[in-house]
Amino acid sequence: MEQGFRYYNPVSLVFGEDALTSILRQLNERRALLVASEGGMQRPLIQQLLNVSTNIVSVVSAIRPNPELQDLQEILDTLPSEEYEVIIAVGGGSVIDSAKAISLRRRGDKKLQLGQLLKQGAESVNQSIPIIAVPTTTGSGSEVTPWATIWDSEACRKYSLHRSCLWPEAAICDPQLSVTLSRELTMQTGLDALSHALESIWNRNANPVTIRHAVSAAKRLFTTLPLIVEDLENPNLRTQMMLGSLEAGLAFSNTGTSLAHSISYYLTLKHNIPHGVACSFSLPEIVDAVAGKDSTVDEALTAIFGSTTSKPLRAVWDALELRKSFNEFGITKVELPSLYEIAELSGRSKNSILDLRTFCIRENLWS
Ligand SMILES: [Fe+2]
Repeated sequence: MEQGFRYYNPVSLVFGEDALTSILRQLNERRALLVASEGGMQRPLIQQLLNVSTNIVSVVSAIRPNPELQDLQEILDTLPSEEYEVIIAVGGGSVIDSAKAISLRRRGDKKLQLGQLLKQGAESVNQSIPIIAVPTTTGSGSEVTPWATIWDSEACRKYSLHRSCLWPEAAICDPQLSVTLSRELTMQTGLDALSHALESIWNRNANPVTIRHAVSAAKRLFTTLPLIVEDLENPNLRTQMMLGSLEAGLAFSNTGTSLAHSISYYLTLKHNIPHGVACSFSLPEIVDAVAGKDSTVDEALTAIFGSTTSKPLRAVWDALELRKSFNEFGITKVELPSLYEIAELSGRSKNSILDLRTFCIRENLWS
């Protein structure tokens, strides 16, 4: 880890206050586009928002999980040509990521070609519509990062749209909004958040500020996850999960993810494994592989788990009946070259202090 470092996160945070009041305060009479999923439109918060605010001039409600390039292009092509001063994104990571892609279309800019932008790099784009991000899940951290994940499953590609204009203006985190989350989604999004926290620790871009956020996040998520899956509506546990996810976001907003995420993209694209499962199955083995390699990482792991062994993590994985090896997903070694290609294309593996190819052939991942 370098001695000198920079940390930057410009997102205004509101945590634990009533979401409706906070959104209206942040909106401040600006003309808004509301972005949500179809299911999300049934939320009382959205109905109340539409009832009390005359500032919401359009609604996009067709957002699906793992936003696809084609779907987003269709939304951009059919979006009414209004002048939106702000976008309110209420939903999980897919909704907030989609809002980021939509935010690039400014008034009069009817021909925004997202595919071209993703393939050529979005360097020319430096203006977007400000976003008020209101997470309803506790995993993606997208409310405090400047990037969005966009999938092109037909071409078997995962894109990261990363621009400094994509930091949300504000993140309104009301744990109450996550109380209705199913057991499955609570687990998947919680594992994603835990992965973000740990991935920013065995990371070449880590610094004392990111480590501090990451340790706090991982401790919170690791202890809360086994409890909340048995007590989904517990408000205190929901608060811990949302705070953990937010802290993980604050950590990886400055480091990026690393090894576990780079491996996950192949599992999601080729085997349809949900992101939270795909990006977390390898965590116990990474802990074993990284232990003893770097004193800062060792200190952070000890602060979280009490030691640098993967034992506590494996115990939670067993209790939650989670998979820990490629075998358990039906993946064979023949697939490794394709996995490496997708992992290396994502650029995430370079953030890791461990080597992707050395790690992927560890025996435990195949037994
Ligand atoms: Fe993730």
